[in-house]
Amino acid sequence: MKIIMLGAPGAGKGTQAKMIADKYSIPHISTGDIFRANIKEGTELGQKAKTYMDKGLLVPDELVVDLVVDRVQKDDCAKGYVLDGFPRTIPQAEALDAALAKLNDKVDYAINVEVPDENIIKRMSGRRACVACGATYHIVHIPTKVEGICDRCGAELILRDDDKPETVKKRLDVYHDQTQPLIDYYTNSGILKEVDGTVDMKDVFAAIIDILGE
Ligand code: AP5
Ligand code: MG
Repeated sequence: MKIIMLGAPGAGKGTQAKMIADKYSIPHISTGDIFRANIKEGTELGQKAKTYMDKGLLVPDELVVDLVVDRVQKDDCAKGYVLDGFPRTIPQAEALDAALAKLNDKVDYAINVEVPDENIIKRMSGRRACVACGATYHIVHIPTKVEGICDRCGAELILRDDDKPETVKKRLDVYHDQTQPLIDYYTNSGILKEVDGTVDMKDVFAAIIDILGE
């Protein structure tokens, strides 16, 4: 089962992608997490990506396409995968389709998690992410047992650099401009599915399971 998660920044793509990956035992591939891991490790890719991410801009297509196309051909992706944060532009979607077509393969579902812009800014200011394992929490909706400490691994939680309100507004503009056109792209290819992302995350997940099957 090969799945793409679509949605605005903060729509809950990462939250749902992790739940899908656990339920169906497939890898969760988040380009944002890959870039953040590279930034933490101080790699050249990380340094390049950071200059864009901190401004709320997209990293150039050429830095992300090969990375994902290589990743989905690894052995652990044979049964499927859930892509979170990729593709994010029409050229990225076309490059993925072309690479998969060469392998006689295709994406099965593009799930759009719909949340209006008004809800997004509130969510992002409350998000906290674990510096070590990448788990995400929300100070109101998913609090940790001990404030500021990851329940899963005990490491420190941080507010992402790009979750400051001014940067979130920029990310939303970039989303509407460059990523939203993918909704038409996947509608046209017949694999788009929509879920309401404003309801409780368990209900969002139930709607996704209805689409993907038990
Ligand atoms: P990325 O990490 O992908 O960020 P994003 O798309 O902006 O999405 P987020 O991770 O912010 O949100 P999400 O939808 O995963 O929401 P989450 O589940 O955490 O990318 C970061 C940057 O990297 C980009 O800006 C770009 O620069 C670069 N980049 C990455 N991929 C790229 C690509 N392909 N091309 C070019 N550049 C790329 O949820 C948000 C919060 O809400 C959490 O606190 C969560 O707990 C809470 N929440 C979730 N669901 C619910 C719910 N139903 N109700 C209440 N709260 C909820
Ligand atoms: Mg995410």
